[in-house]
Amino acid sequence: MKALKRLFALLFVLSIAQFTYAQTIVGSAHDFSGDNWNNTGEICIVCHTPHNADISVTDAPLWNHEVTQATFTLYSSPSLDATDLGQPTASSKLCLSCHDGTVAVDNFGGRTGGGEFITGNDLIGTDLSNDHPISFTYDAALATADGGLFDPTTTNSGLGGTIQDDMLLGNQVQCVSCHDVHNGSGLANLLVKSNAASALCLTCHNK
Ligand code: HEC
Ligand code: HEC
Ligand code: HEC
Ligand code: HEC
Repeated sequence: MKALKRLFALLFVLSIAQFTYAQTIVGSAHDFSGDNWNNTGEICIVCHTPHNADISVTDAPLWNHEVTQATFTLYSSPSLDATDLGQPTASSKLCLSCHDGTVAVDNFGGRTGGGEFITGNDLIGTDLSNDHPISFTYDAALATADGGLFDPTTTNSGLGGTIQDDMLLGNQVQCVSCHDVHNGSGLANLLVKSNAASALCLTCHNK
């Protein structure tokens, strides 16, 4: 009996551990396998393909979704110290290939003319002037220039390594600095880490 109880206790702990730490894309906001516009019944295929991928975006991972052609209005402010803010690059451009609302979500695998568009809260649009800046370099020099940022090369992200290791892509802030497209953390809004008491913001901002 004792052994059985212990087994149940262990199973319980394991199930909780899985629930809080080892989430996946399955069942998340990005699991489109059950959507009526996706007749493949698959998950990855909406964004990835093993063959004949779209390589028009630098460093795109075997991309299978139509890429946005929009020109974006960028964030600007007099106190911004970053100097290389430009049009969205790398994986941010891939996110915006659904979230800017100009490309149909069901335009994948070479398909065009789909009719499923993002609306409501999840629509970021082509005006990024009211969004956290992305696609710019965040390095030790920027931290010094700003005075209110941690040095990304030496500061722990809380995710295992430094900010640079875990949250930057080619030393740049991108959508994936704050979000995990595959829902690895299992947190609301696909965040990479909890933003309770603004912990996400305070990872980089020394405020
Ligand atoms: C809604 C779009 C979307 C779906 C669905 C999706 N991915 Fe991704 N995936 C991305 C984006 C965007 C990136 C690049 C950003 C990044 O690396 O997180 C990426 C990166 C990757 C990478 C390379 C980087 C890494 O995390 O290892 C792999 C491997 C990958 N995806 C596998 C998968 C598999 C397997 C599935 C299905 C189970 C899947 N993805 C479903 C959008 C998606
Ligand atoms: C293939 C289209 C597509 C791509 C590519 C894509 N998304 Fe999404 N995403 C969606 C749709 C559609 C929803 C809304 C799903 C719903 O509400 O059922 C969504 C929802 C979200 C949400 C809200 C999640 C929630 O819990 O409500 C976040 C955050 C998000 N996406 C971030 C990203 C980021 C960051 C990237 C790139 C790394 C990305 N998405 C790439 C289609 C996409
Ligand atoms: C600096 C961190 C950060 C960056 C960079 C970032 N986000 Fe978010 N995002 C958040 C947080 C935090 C939330 C949770 C909602 C909130 O607090 O307003 C969120 C929410 C969202 C949502 C859910 C709907 C909403 O507005 O609440 C979507 C969709 C989304 N982000 C997509 C993106 C995309 C696409 C990019 C890149 C173009 C991006 N995010 C870049 C932090 C970020
Ligand atoms: C991965 C690191 C990182 C995270 C996480 C992050 N930021 Fe930032 N944020 C930056 C960097 C770097 C800048 C650019 C600062 C500059 O160039 O002056 C910036 C810029 C900003 C700005 C504009 C500053 C200006 O002078 O116009 C605000 C406001 C801001 N972040 C708030 C937030 C908030 C709120 C959160 C949490 C939701 C957050 N940030 C999360 C790195 C981050």
